[in-house]
Amino acid sequence: MGVRRSPSSSLPRRSFLKRTGIGVVAAASGSLSLPARAAENNLTTADPRLFETIYSLRAIRWLKPDPIPEETLKKIVEAGIHAPSGGNRQDWGFILVRDPELKRFIGDRYRETRNKLQTGRPPLSELPPDRQRALRAAVHLAEHLHEVPVILLACSVKEYPPWAQNPRASVATVHGSIYPAVQNMLLACRGLGVGATLTTTHCFFEEELKQKLGVPENMEIAALLPLGFPRGKFGKTTRKPVDEVLYWDRWGSKKA
Ligand SMILES: Cc1cc2nc3c(=O)[nH]c(=O)nc-3n(C[C@H](O)[C@H](O)[C@H](O)COP(=O)(O)O)c2cc1C
Repeated sequence: MGVRRSPSSSLPRRSFLKRTGIGVVAAASGSLSLPARAAENNLTTADPRLFETIYSLRAIRWLKPDPIPEETLKKIVEAGIHAPSGGNRQDWGFILVRDPELKRFIGDRYRETRNKLQTGRPPLSELPPDRQRALRAAVHLAEHLHEVPVILLACSVKEYPPWAQNPRASVATVHGSIYPAVQNMLLACRGLGVGATLTTTHCFFEEELKQKLGVPENMEIAALLPLGFPRGKFGKTTRKPVDEVLYWDRWGSKKA
C-alpha cells in the first residue's frame, strides 16, 4: 500500500503530523489513556499563538484603503478551502472584488439596506455603551465599504443534493459547508494582520448582486467580508463565560 500524503504538503502524512506536533503522545500514567494524557499535556504545551489568534478575532470594521498583496489574498482563500464541507463536496467559490465600480455598487446597496433596517429602531444614544460602539462601527463600515481594498464573497451551492428531500438537513449542511471556510479565512486574516468582518447584510440585495457578478443561479452568497489593514488594533473578544453556556450530557446540567 502506498503512503497517504497530506494534501497540503509533499511530505508523507506521518512526517506532516510529526512536524506539526499533531498526535504527539506522552507516556501513560494514572488511569488516563495515552491520547488523553497527551491531550492534557497539550493544554500547557500547545502553541499559545493559536489560542491568541482565536481569542482576538474581533470584527474589524475600520479599515485602511491600502491594497492587500495578491499572495496574501490567495493565502487567505487557501486557508478557507482547507475547511471541512458536507461529503467533502467543496461546492464553493470565492470572489475577491477589487474593481472600484463594483465596490461602489456593493457599498451603495449595503448602505441603503442598513439605513432601511435602522428605520424605526431606537437611536444610538439610547443603547448601552458597548452596543453603541458596535453599531457605530457597523454604520462606519456601511458608509465606507466602497473604500476598502477588497470585498470577499464566499459562495456555496444552495442545496445539498444527497439530502435534498429533507430541507432542515439540507439547509444545515449547505450553511455548515461554507461557514467553516469563512471562519478559516477570518483566522487567516487575523494571522496575516488583515482586518475583516463576517457580514450578511448583502442578503437583502443578493439576487441583484449575483446578477452583477455573474454568480450562477444555483449558488448563494453566504458571506461578504470587507478586507483591509486595520485602522485600530486587534483586541480581545468579549463573550459570555464558558461555564454559562456549557452543559454536560443534558441541556442545563452544569456538573461535569
Ligand atoms: C452570521 C453573522 C452575520 C453578521 N452580519 C453582520 C453585518 O451584516 N454587518 C456587520 O457589521 N457585522 C455583522 N456581523 C458581525 C457581528 O456583529 C460580530 O461578529 C459580533 O458583534 C461580535 O463582534 P466582535 O467579534 O467584534 O466581538 C455578523 C456576524 C455573524 C456571525
